Amino acid sequence: MKVDVILGLQWGDEGKGKIVDFLADRYDIVCRFQGGPNAGHTIKVDGKKYVLHTIPSGILRPNILNIIGNGVVLDPITMVKEMHMLDSSGIEFRNRLYISNKTHLILPTHRYLDAASEASKGHAKIGSTLKGIGPTYMDKTGRNGLRIGDIKSKNFRVHYQNLKDKHLKLLKLYPEVEFNLEEQESAFFEAIDEISTLTFLNTEYFLHKALQDNKRILAEGAQGSMLDIDFGTYPFVTSSNTISAGVCSGLGISPNSIGEVIGIAKAYCTRVGSGPFPTEQDNAIGEKLRSEGAEFGATTGRPRRCGWIDIPQLKYTIMINGVTQVVITKLDVLDDFDTIQTGHNYKYHDQLTDELPFDLVDTDIEVMYNDFKGWKHTISKVDSYEKLPDEAHKYLDALEKSLNTKISLVSTGPEREKLFHRTSFLNL
Ligand code: GDP
Ligand code: IMO
Ligand code: MG
Repeated sequence: MKVDVILGLQWGDEGKGKIVDFLADRYDIVCRFQGGPNAGHTIKVDGKKYVLHTIPSGILRPNILNIIGNGVVLDPITMVKEMHMLDSSGIEFRNRLYISNKTHLILPTHRYLDAASEASKGHAKIGSTLKGIGPTYMDKTGRNGLRIGDIKSKNFRVHYQNLKDKHLKLLKLYPEVEFNLEEQESAFFEAIDEISTLTFLNTEYFLHKALQDNKRILAEGAQGSMLDIDFGTYPFVTSSNTISAGVCSGLGISPNSIGEVIGIAKAYCTRVGSGPFPTEQDNAIGEKLRSEGAEFGATTGRPRRCGWIDIPQLKYTIMINGVTQVVITKLDVLDDFDTIQTGHNYKYHDQLTDELPFDLVDTDIEVMYNDFKGWKHTISKVDSYEKLPDEAHKYLDALEKSLNTKISLVSTGPEREKLFHRTSFLNL
């Protein structure tokens, strides 16, 4: 068997959580391979809303095993809050949630450093979620980090203290920010005790064996490809490889084990935090997209910046990821627009092109738009793909043609069941 992948093709929040939850019952194992609690994946089932930050979105499906891979950075404090949220919702999960021994730990001082580093940047700040993601990955690549497997070491406290001392020295370089370290530290150690009741494993062996045993595995991406550390809008990115290549390093799976790569894109586009966004509509259209789409961050509650779908941007992320099928979400958000636009080309340095420049931050881009007639119809009430208004079909057909990739699913509401199979679902 192969590992199928679900990942975001834009700047995050494409609706990955909903699609992972929907497809999870076709799999035996769902794994997160990168990112950390900067992610906020929303799932709506039976009228109840769940937001997951670290725990994979397969957890709401009974009997499915969920794995937090080595590529993830894990904050025990947030993780335990999520565990309690699941407990209080009556979801049994403790015997089907495994964590890789090699998953890196987010310490309270990583969050402290994140806050101080952002504060020092002033107007140039990334708009980080302040969950300690950047500093934790810096310690990982700097070979200073602490990992889940280290918790069981008798020297864990000593290693913790050494890293904390190093952080406190670094913090002297930054402006003072409010942070109650003592309180956070005691919450951290309490949370460590609680997550120690879960199974820690060398998940690379476990997954290798699972593949040999013909188990079906789904890898769940966090963030979006435009936030990838290498290919995103650097430096306004996150600190991990959010693209399909990250599945190999984030789970210990070889490239030839990757099967379908399912890219999720909204029918428009959003971004939260700073950085370039060529098709942003910083105007009444953007505001309407935000209010119709309830575009406020699932992790930080910040209003998301909104704009039209960007074809050159999507072609780029489809290329980088080797996307085999696209899922379009939130089509219903466009219900009430007279005209819908798509950015179909860029113009810069007096040239028309559909290639992204080296540096979207400093390149002055003019976006060329195509206009589509809106459908002005409440499509969340439509019960089959065929019954969608003609204008919606035309919009999706045009997207598929421009992207040169099959659109296999179309989502028309936050609820699990609000989804149309556009074609017989490819290879799943
Ligand atoms: P993720 O980070 O990619 O999992 O996405 P988020 O959960 O951060 O943001 C997506 C938001 O859109 C959530 O509030 C979802 O409940 C919601 N959502 C997902 N699919 C649809 C859809 O098709 N229509 C509408 N209206 N909302 C959706
Ligand atoms: P999901 O998985 C949207 C953004 C932040 C900031 C930048 C760096 O829910 O799609 P970080 O905290 O990683 O240092 O922030 O990346 N960002 C996200 N934006 N969705 C996410 O995750 C994000 N995770 C990080 O807003 O601009
Ligand atoms: Mg999100």
